[in-house]
Amino acid sequence: MASNYTAGFGIGQDSVINLDHGDPTMFEPFWKEVGDNATVKISGWEKMSYTSCDDGICWFLEPEFGNEVMRLHRIVNNAATDGRYIIVGVGSTQMIHATLHALASIEVRHPVNVVSAAPYYSMYPGIVDLMKSGLYHWAGDAAAFRGQDNFIELVCSPNNPDGTIRHAILGKEVGKRVHDMAYYWPQYTPMRGPADQDIMLFTLSKATGHAGTRIGLGRSAPNTFWHHCI
Ligand SMILES: Cc1ncc(COP(=O)(O)O)c(C=O)c1O
Repeated sequence: MASNYTAGFGIGQDSVINLDHGDPTMFEPFWKEVGDNATVKISGWEKMSYTSCDDGICWFLEPEFGNEVMRLHRIVNNAATDGRYIIVGVGSTQMIHATLHALASIEVRHPVNVVSAAPYYSMYPGIVDLMKSGLYHWAGDAAAFRGQDNFIELVCSPNNPDGTIRHAILGKEVGKRVHDMAYYWPQYTPMRGPADQDIMLFTLSKATGHAGTRIGLGRSAPNTFWHHCI
C-alpha cells in the first residue's frame, strides 16, 4: 500500500517513554493515515454462530482471516505456512495458556516445569501461574533448570526485553518448546527467513499494533496437540 507515512511521529522533547509496560499506541498515526482502507465492518447479523467453519482445526477461526494471516506471513516471509495450521486466542497471552495446557496434558508427570532463559518477558511467571494449574507451573530461568526432561521451554525471539535472537537452550531431544515470535516482524528486527518451529505464537498486538483487539495466533503442523488447545 502506497503511503507517505514517516517515522518519528510526534516524538518531542517532552515525550515520556514508559518503561514499565509497552503499549503499541505509537502505531495510531500510521493507521489514521491508512484511514478507510483498513476499516473493518462487522454487520449485526454476522458472527452469530459459535463455529465459523466446519472443517478447520480451530472451529472459531474465520477462514478468511486465517487465509489473510497466512498471506501476510508469505509476504513478510517470517513464518513457514505450508502444511501449517492456525488457531486463534484472546491475545498471545491466552495462546500461551492454551499451548501450555495442551503440551502438559499429554505429559505423564505433573506439574510440568515451565522455564525461559533470563532475561525473560516479565509477565511469563504470572501468566504461567495464573491458572494455578496442576498440570504445569513456573520454574524460572531455563539456564538454572536442573531437571531432566519434564519441562516446557518458552523461547522468545526476538526476546523481550533485550531484543536478542534466541534459540532453545535445553536439550532438543527431550522436553517441549513454545516459540514466542511476537516481535519477529520487520519493524522490530531484521528478517532472517521464515521461522519453522513446531509451535509458534504471534500476536496482532505487535504485528499491527492492535493490542486491544486481543488476537493471538498459534501455528503448528497438524497433530492432536492442537485439539488440546481448543
Ligand atoms: C514476548 C511477548 N509475548 C506475549 C505478549 C502478550 O501479547 P498479547 O497482547 O497478544 O497478549 C507480549 C506483550 O507484550 C510480549 O511482549
